[in-house]
Amino acid sequence: MTSRMVGGLIASLLVCFTTALHAKALVVGFSQIGAESAWRTAETESVKSAAKERGVDLKFSDAQGKQENQIKALRSFIAQKVDAIILAPVVETGWEPVLKEVKRAKIPVVLLDRGIKVSDPTLYTTLISPDFVNEGREVARMLAEKTKGTAKIVELQGTPGSAPALDRKKGFDEGIKAFPNMQIIKSQTGNFNRAEGKQVMEAFLKSEGKNINAVYAHNDDMALGAIQAIEEAGLKPGTDIVIYSIDAVKSAFEAMIAGKLNGTVECTPMLGPKAFEAIDRVRAGEVLEKWTKQEDKNFPQEIAAAHIASRMY
Ligand code: AHR
Repeated sequence: MTSRMVGGLIASLLVCFTTALHAKALVVGFSQIGAESAWRTAETESVKSAAKERGVDLKFSDAQGKQENQIKALRSFIAQKVDAIILAPVVETGWEPVLKEVKRAKIPVVLLDRGIKVSDPTLYTTLISPDFVNEGREVARMLAEKTKGTAKIVELQGTPGSAPALDRKKGFDEGIKAFPNMQIIKSQTGNFNRAEGKQVMEAFLKSEGKNINAVYAHNDDMALGAIQAIEEAGLKPGTDIVIYSIDAVKSAFEAMIAGKLNGTVECTPMLGPKAFEAIDRVRAGEVLEKWTKQEDKNFPQEIAAAHIASRMY
């Protein structure tokens, strides 16, 4: 190789190096609801680690369960001129005005795990989520099988106004319609967290006592809280009162193996990679399906031991 060729090679290597140095990382704003459940913490981790793997500059904002904080975060993402936004919306309604501002700033929005109600569907690109109505139906099916269609049920609902609370209720109500001896005798929110699930279950036990023989919790954290309340009341969770929930977090598997929980439906929180794939596709000019539906999986307690080792969250 001549010295001229070596010089040329060094010059082009330098160009590549400088270009790589100055290549702008993709900037993505992520407005997360909070950390109310183990499931949500796993989702946050999934988004953060997917961003790290891809070299994305992630602006993370924890709304502490408040929609007003999410709206503020979206406005701050606009001001920071992010390339895209991932939004896990706490409730279904009230997004139209701020999403119009985001649209005017030409920032694509990917909805993560929960849907919203808007009259203009172009305000977001796609919703990546499971079918919450189906999850409610599946719990009803498992509970009907276990109780042979006879149950006095107490229901621990998720956050009022949130898509999973509304849809899981709808699916469950539909599912038990075919069984005249299955009735919801009490229903109240436990806001998707363990402490409130426990408190509400304590109140249910106080007012209904031995009348209760089944619990339907909209997520595992509330079911785990209810288990504690049932034990403290001197009853056997999983036997005296059967319990079904949704999420399939690791502690739910532990409870199933211990005989305290009778089943759960998986709705995966490992959605980070899918969110960034969606952003890449939108930025490449693709029009995405409005709903990127994720499959659910049922875990009755009988198969928990065979699956616990492979649980990732
Ligand atoms: O939106 C999904 C639900 O939100 C999960 O079931 C629950 O644990 C979470 O907080």
